[in-house]
Amino acid sequence: RKSITLHRLREMHAQREKIAMVTAYDATFARLVDDAGVDSILVGDSLGMIVQGQSSTVPVTLDEMVYHTRCVVRGNRTAWVVGDLPFGSYQEGREQALRSSVALMRAGAHMVKLEGGGWTAETVHFLTERGIPVCAHLGLTPQSVHALGGYRIQGRDAAGADTLRKHARELAEAGAAMMVLELMPSAVATQVQADNPGMMTIGIGAGAATAGQVLVLHDMLNFTRGKLPRFVRNFTAEGGSAEDAVRRYVAAVKDGSFPDEALHGY
Ligand code: KIV
Ligand code: NA
Repeated sequence: RKSITLHRLREMHAQREKIAMVTAYDATFARLVDDAGVDSILVGDSLGMIVQGQSSTVPVTLDEMVYHTRCVVRGNRTAWVVGDLPFGSYQEGREQALRSSVALMRAGAHMVKLEGGGWTAETVHFLTERGIPVCAHLGLTPQSVHALGGYRIQGRDAAGADTLRKHARELAEAGAAMMVLELMPSAVATQVQADNPGMMTIGIGAGAATAGQVLVLHDMLNFTRGKLPRFVRNFTAEGGSAEDAVRRYVAAVKDGSFPDEALHGY
C-alpha cells in the first residue's frame, strides 16, 4: 500500500470514503494496525492511562509523547501519524506550541493534535502557516477533565451545541485540516461536519456522520479493564487475531456499520 498523505485523506473525504483511525503507542502495535489497513494512527496522550496507568492524560509530558511517537514511527509503514500535543505543551501560546510541534514532527509525526476551542485558533493558524498540519479536538477534551467536572458528554443543550459549532468554525477557518469530535450528541457532530464541509471530522462517541472514526486500540481489543464508555465496540468478540479485530474495525468504519447509532450514539 502507498503511504497515506494529507492529500489522499482529503481525496477520501471528498469521495465520502470514511477514514479509520486508531491509537498506537509502540512499534509492534503500529505495525499491526498499519498492516490491518488503518488510514491513520493517533499517538494519543491516552497513553497516560493505557501505558502509564495514570488516572488522566494531564500528567503526560512532551518528552514522553516524543518517545512514543518515535516508537510508533519505527513500526509504521504507510499510515498517517498524528501526534498529541500534551497538556502544558501549547497553552502558553503559539511560539510554545510551535516548539512542541517541532519536537513531535522531528520524532516523525505527520500532524499534531491539540485540544480546545476558539482560544487555540490563533495557534492553529500559526502552525498551519509554518507547514505543520493540525488536528483540532472539541467536545470532551480530556486534558480539561478537572475543569469539566469529569468525563461527561458535551454540547447537550442548545447553548452548548452553539458554542461547539462556533469553535469548530473558528478552528476550520484557522486552517485545521482535521478535527476530533469526542463525546457529543450525534446531531451536533453532524452539524459541525455540515458547517465545515472541507474539514475532516473524526468522531469518538459523536455518531456516524463524521468523516472518520477513532478508537483507543486497547478499548477495541478488549484489553482495557473496568467500565468502558458506551461508544466503544469490542472488535475481538468474533474471535481471531488482534489484527483480524482491527481489520473488522476498519471494515465497519468504511461500510458505516460502526458506530451504530442505537448502540453507540448519544
Ligand atoms: O489520546 C487519545 O487517544 C485521543 C483520542 C481518544 C481521540 O485523543
Ligand atoms: Na488525546
